[in-house]
Amino acid sequence: LHLYEAQRLAEDLRDRNLMRRARRMRRSIEDEVAGDLAPSTAVAGLPGGFSGVLAQNPHIATVLDHLLGDLLGKITFRHGFVALFSARSGGGRAVTILARRDVPEPSARMITEWFLGREDADCSSGALLTDVLRDRRTAAVRDVLPGNGGPIYIHPLCRDGEPYGILFFQSGADGKEPARVGQVPDVVASYASFVDVLVQGNAVRPPAAGDDARKRGGDFRHVITRNDRMLRVLTLAEKVAQSDATVLLMGETGTGKGLIANAIHALSPRRDGKFIHVNCAALPETILESELFGHVKGAFTGAICDKKGLLAEADGGTVFLDEISKTSIVLQGKLLQFLDTMKVRPVGGNDMIPVNVRLVFASKHDLMSMIRNGTMLEDLYYRINDFPITIPPLRERIEDIHLLAEYYLKVFRDRMAKHVRGFSEEALALLAGYEWPGNVRELEKIVKRAVILCDEEGLITPEAIAFDETESCSIDQRRLALPDRVKDLEKRVISECLIRNGWNRSAASNELRISYPTLLKKIRDLKIAEGY
Ligand SMILES: Nc1ncnc2c1ncn2[C@@H]1O[C@H](COP(=O)(O)OP(=O)(O)OP(=O)(O)O)[C@@H](O)[C@H]1O
Ligand SMILES: [Mg+2]
Repeated sequence: LHLYEAQRLAEDLRDRNLMRRARRMRRSIEDEVAGDLAPSTAVAGLPGGFSGVLAQNPHIATVLDHLLGDLLGKITFRHGFVALFSARSGGGRAVTILARRDVPEPSARMITEWFLGREDADCSSGALLTDVLRDRRTAAVRDVLPGNGGPIYIHPLCRDGEPYGILFFQSGADGKEPARVGQVPDVVASYASFVDVLVQGNAVRPPAAGDDARKRGGDFRHVITRNDRMLRVLTLAEKVAQSDATVLLMGETGTGKGLIANAIHALSPRRDGKFIHVNCAALPETILESELFGHVKGAFTGAICDKKGLLAEADGGTVFLDEISKTSIVLQGKLLQFLDTMKVRPVGGNDMIPVNVRLVFASKHDLMSMIRNGTMLEDLYYRINDFPITIPPLRERIEDIHLLAEYYLKVFRDRMAKHVRGFSEEALALLAGYEWPGNVRELEKIVKRAVILCDEEGLITPEAIAFDETESCSIDQRRLALPDRVKDLEKRVISECLIRNGWNRSAASNELRISYPTLLKKIRDLKIAEGY
């Protein structure tokens, strides 16, 4: 890029000698870099690891993202994206950005629309523009090009001669000389045919006109996995998304229940409606009820006006009821009634208001055992268990540990603009052998910390990996200490009984068949507080 600048400067100064020298130097650098792009690598197709990801992962956005990253590395370009658009209908086209690297989404859209709308347009052939700052054709998008003055190459994806998408690339303005630009189209073409197979293979359909990529933001593109059980989870979720069935997501903390709930909404016909996440554990019982169902003016102290509940608020959309195990039997009864009638009765009101929402429930506790100890309403359980989906913990999908670690490494490396080479063998072994009580959330945190700790251009070694003390404590406790486990269970049984009895201590002591003073002592010793 500096040589581009030098050449330009020489042109401005009309210094032929300097111009010639700059051109010569550029060519020799191009030839040198092009050595890495010998035809064997350029047309050899995909690197080894890839076919593995592809074969096992039908979720195209993840694959495309890998593909794009790899291709950018090959052509030593920095910015790139893959866009699809619908066929012309009524003049407009809907653009979806499937994968992008170092290009903001709005810029990617503008560039795609510009490419489609060019007057000299032959959208079915590629465009290589090496002098984007002065080229009149790029005037309309100059400001949004991610790599300033670097050369760009746009490759159309065509079906029956009709373009349905583009691959866009621009070399970075970071001083790195790109590979011999003239070779880029060939390298890209071999990848493009691959993208084409993926898309044609029906994994993804070009969006219908009017379909907006923003609304697709929560789909599976963020779910990274190559584990069979996880892939089955995604397939199930994709199928159930099409219906209005109530879904129950089960899995340990940090396994991705929230992520999947989001995806179900984004892939459902309700995607244009609201998605409201209600964490049942975060709100005291009475507030939770009025939040969900709404209340009328004067229903309780502080209810100074009518308030619409979240269920009504999400009319036409999806409500995600997280941590359902933390609700009382009373509220569970109201939810059951809601599911049966699909009508809400605001607190203090008489009217039943019809509402059209899909409910997604999540729990990290075993609801069956809660039924047995009386803290889960059996009828509600069976009502929401129409479509149970269990997300396996990370330690049971070892193959995902490395994949996710690499993924988060890339995320934080880009975000912190820090060049970290990767994980050392020992570090990878350490990650693979860990129990991951906090699952993906914990992995994300650990990789982030490691990237911060790692030296520039360095490798992440075991020293940079610090597992979470509290998380590992909880697993030790879960596995080893019987007295602690008994205490934990006792605390849970008493709390649940107290909640069931509206914190009426004498009713609770009767039910638990212990004396009233004993109960008071246990509440004190076990530090049980209302709202536990
Ligand atoms: N397969 C995955 N690929 C990429 N990111 C993931 C994956 N699974 C989980 N994550 C990420 O891990 C974090 C935790 O996920 P999420 O909040 O969905 O978990 P959860 O099961 O709802 O946990 P909790 O029960 O504690 O609420 C999020 O940042 C999420 O994006
Ligand atoms: Mg969650």
